[in-house]
Amino acid sequence: MLKLLVAQFKEFKKEAILTPLMMVFEVIMEMVIPLLMASIIDNGVEKSDLNHIYFIGVIMIVAAALGLLFGVLGGQLAAKASCGFARNLRRSMYENIQTFSFSNIDKFSTAGLVTRLTTDVTNLQNAVQMILRMCARAPLTLIVAMIMSFSLSPRLSSIFLVAIVILACVLALIISKATKYFTQVFPKYDELNASVQENVSSIRVVKAYVREDYERTKFEKASQNIYNMFCKAENVIVWNMPVMQFTVYVCILLLSWFGAHMIVDGSLTTGDLMALLSYCMNILISLMMLSMIFVMVTLSAASARRVSEVLAEESNLTNPDHAITTVKDGSIHFDHVSFRYHKESEEPVLDDINIQIQSGETIGIIGGTGSSKSSLVNLISRLYDVSEGQLLVGGVDVRNYDLETLRREVAVVLQKNVLFSGTILENLRWGKKDATREECIHACKLACADEFIEKMPDGYETYIEQGGSNVSGGQKQRLCIARALISKPKVLILDDSTSAVDTATDAKIREAFATEIPGTTKLIIAQRISSIQNSDKILVLNNGRVDGFGTHEELLKTNEIYREVYESQTQGGGDFDENGGEA
Ligand SMILES: Nc1ncnc2c1ncn2[C@@H]1O[C@H](COP(=O)(O)OP(=O)(O)OP(=O)(O)O)[C@@H](O)[C@H]1O
Ligand SMILES: [Mg+2]
Repeated sequence: MLKLLVAQFKEFKKEAILTPLMMVFEVIMEMVIPLLMASIIDNGVEKSDLNHIYFIGVIMIVAAALGLLFGVLGGQLAAKASCGFARNLRRSMYENIQTFSFSNIDKFSTAGLVTRLTTDVTNLQNAVQMILRMCARAPLTLIVAMIMSFSLSPRLSSIFLVAIVILACVLALIISKATKYFTQVFPKYDELNASVQENVSSIRVVKAYVREDYERTKFEKASQNIYNMFCKAENVIVWNMPVMQFTVYVCILLLSWFGAHMIVDGSLTTGDLMALLSYCMNILISLMMLSMIFVMVTLSAASARRVSEVLAEESNLTNPDHAITTVKDGSIHFDHVSFRYHKESEEPVLDDINIQIQSGETIGIIGGTGSSKSSLVNLISRLYDVSEGQLLVGGVDVRNYDLETLRREVAVVLQKNVLFSGTILENLRWGKKDATREECIHACKLACADEFIEKMPDGYETYIEQGGSNVSGGQKQRLCIARALISKPKVLILDDSTSAVDTATDAKIREAFATEIPGTTKLIIAQRISSIQNSDKILVLNNGRVDGFGTHEELLKTNEIYREVYESQTQGGGDFDENGGEA
């Protein structure tokens, strides 16, 4: 786990060494000052030697200025290293996420990935900054201040030892309690992000169902959870400061009490006592810093784990070593294919699918909701890998193709299609980067999208808002079909992509397909039998199994589900699921 994180930090080796070094210089300056002060009091003030006061005073100013300089330099270096580290982490995580397959993303959830990229990385950044600045400074201050005070007066310094032991115990207690709460906070952040993300991306649905109150409650619950956790943690952490201050004051009182006696005895000078009091502050402050480092480290350990999980995740859809970069034709062969989304799940989503589709054929796919139509076609462009059996496109197992080649040749209009913010032309060119304007217009003609685009004031330059919110559902579907057509694929898959298009246009699109792209294998998932009845063959799916595979006429004779649906739709004009879907 650490290896992955360290790799992102390598670039900042110089800063990692220089920052603690600067801090060491700062500490040295800080430690010299109390000695100089003691000298001013003992040799200057008490002996009324003004020259000595001036001389040492100047040295003190120089020491303070140097301390300041080293402090600032160290701070800047630490900031550069920690911010750069965070940038590298985000970049690497983002790059890795781009390679993720659908199932990799399913595993983390989108909200989880967002939290990891933002909050968790920020935590690590803060921790690195703090550690760089304090890892040398705090222990060094502690040790040097102890040595200095023991050299001044071993008897009085033993007070510190007792104080340190007591303080260390109390701090340890505080930290162990606080970290328990902090580590529970992160999963709660995922919940909060999920709530915000879901609400914002589906705000129209939320409004349509007047679910604002429900969404508000959900958000408030997630937000309140984080509040509670942080309150609990902070309630414990606040003890840090008062406990430390209390110890400091007790030490000062004891030092003054015993110190005063020793000064009267003549075994200690006033200056030495002043210096001891300064060291007392230094020691206890460094102890507190150490405790904060511990809190930071434990806090960021959870984040470090979550970040490195994303970095370490390997896409389970990898390009093969000797990838094939041409697809011979659009034939598809499902050879005893079974598929499950999760290895552990008992029931497969697709069970022993065994069908052969010739290149250039038009295949209609029909089946009730949840009968695995989408799952079946998603295997063809390798959005998921089959669990058992083999899926051949153009006579070659899809796992042997170069992914880019395969996805260019197998164009899918997903059921949950999306348009991105940008002009219509820009959106179309997602299908093919260097498509000319003419190619784009031709694809739109095939998808019957040209008619409405030409009516728009800006035509093909019309700006599509995020998620395609300024075009109608049917228009969006037609644009998505056009986008898929641009790359002139060998296989075209439409997953319920004309559901929002009127029947006449739907027929026109199918006609255009038949005449303009006869060589392309077309797989059309539909709810309306009229959309697929003229296909070369129709596949009837039921609960992830093939229930029938044949022409319209054959199925009417042999397939009960198909006949029932057909009758219900021709008589009542009903939908697939209203009748016989799960028969
Ligand atoms: N990403 C996923 N992770 C886990 N299970 C899934 C996932 N997607 C779909 N499923 C499950 O797989 C089964 C088949 O779903 P699928 O989307 O393929 O059905 P469908 O026939 O396309 O339905 P619809 O007509 O509603 O689009 C369902 O039981 C569904 O719960
Ligand atoms: Mg579906």
